[in-house]
Amino acid sequence: MSDSEIFMENETLNIKPDLLCSEPVQHINGEIVVPGDKSISHRALLLSAIAEGDSYLHGFLNGEDCLATMNALRSMGIQITTNSNKVKVCGVGANGLTEPKQSLDLGNSGTAMRLLAGMLSSQPFSSVLIGDDSLSKRPMSRITEPLSSMGAKIDSNEGCPPLVIAGGQKLRGINYRLPVASAQVKSALLIAGLWAEGRTTVHSPGPSRDHTEIMLKTMGVELSTGNDHELSLDGPVALTARNHEIPGDFSSAAFFIVAGLLASNEGLLIKNVGINPTRTGLLEILRLMGGSIEILNSRESGNELVADLLVKKSQLRGIEIDAKLVPLAIDEFPVLFVAAAFADGITSVNDAKELRYKESDRLSVMAEGLNTLGVKTKETKDGLRIKGGALSGGYIDSHGDHRVAMSFAVAGIAAKDSIYISRAREINTSFPDFLSIANSVGFAIRPHTISTRH
Ligand code: S3P
Repeated sequence: MSDSEIFMENETLNIKPDLLCSEPVQHINGEIVVPGDKSISHRALLLSAIAEGDSYLHGFLNGEDCLATMNALRSMGIQITTNSNKVKVCGVGANGLTEPKQSLDLGNSGTAMRLLAGMLSSQPFSSVLIGDDSLSKRPMSRITEPLSSMGAKIDSNEGCPPLVIAGGQKLRGINYRLPVASAQVKSALLIAGLWAEGRTTVHSPGPSRDHTEIMLKTMGVELSTGNDHELSLDGPVALTARNHEIPGDFSSAAFFIVAGLLASNEGLLIKNVGINPTRTGLLEILRLMGGSIEILNSRESGNELVADLLVKKSQLRGIEIDAKLVPLAIDEFPVLFVAAAFADGITSVNDAKELRYKESDRLSVMAEGLNTLGVKTKETKDGLRIKGGALSGGYIDSHGDHRVAMSFAVAGIAAKDSIYISRAREINTSFPDFLSIANSVGFAIRPHTISTRH
């Protein structure tokens, strides 16, 4: 990107109405490109801000979550300019952030709050991190406890936001065993470790997305790995600025993968999708269910694996999902439950308690929505069992969870009648162009207004 292309403000969000209607359709076919990866967009912003020098990000996701991270960094003196999905970040190095004048509002984004908490624990200034109603209920002790062992001083509201982070603390490296496989916790600790004296080591009980590790390495950090998903870095360590090529978000592609399996007789091609193996558990699960998904043109782009996916209508069958695949498909369960609702037989998952701590309690919210559409489900303490069959239409409360709202929009294409989805505005957090992209391949989703008679 040349300097002449730079940069005006462009922060358009496309889904304004709160109630959507998704109508049944015959087929969906064609070709789409999904927006940039949310996890990688957050990390590229955060790490570029504390690197020495300018970085250019290509394929950035202009969703509300990433814009919250962008605004928080701007409040701490980082100059960021944007032109569509190209972003220039003027890095200030490890000691260049300035004290924010107000609380940092991270909206709906757990990734922004947890990774920023790691970054702000060792700054010379204090900061306060707040979020919306959903984020304000999400557990933060999973990061505040290990960060406190490193020397951070963080107050919370009984383990939930707001987080009040005291300035002027000196951090030291720790050796920490994560109780659950979580990329956000792992990343918060590794980022805090960039300022800590000595070695920071994290062990995880299983794999989780590794975008932070990939990016840190390309920015000059020596990360050593060991058994038991062990990762270590020696601090303090500075980052070198570099440009970032951000692939399409597999988690956004997931809605179209399932839609293609339900209704694409000619095939739906989803181009330039990140297929990092720590993210693609859904592919494995859907193939085991009988789904036809081809990976084409697999290539490396900006240190991440990318491919085009060709999906064709398939009759799915229910399976018992292997617990090992749960962290590798963690954000895809809402739409996977929709696929299970159309499959022959029973699909079940256990060891998925983490789904209760996402933007909503996704086990209970998905069970509630599927029951409303006539699907038999049984919720357990850490899982869900779904008896596949036909779906009727109906009114669904998305509980303000973007992935729940998009999942039921996908269900609408193959249900017997229209599905109405409330609180759908939150789709803007991860996929502001969802409606236009979906309708371009044959979905029939429209904003719905309720008329009142007097
Ligand atoms: C994310 C990690 C996952 C995922 C979230 C994004 C990330 O959370 O659910 O949507 O960008 O690191 P956990 O790390 O808590 O599993």
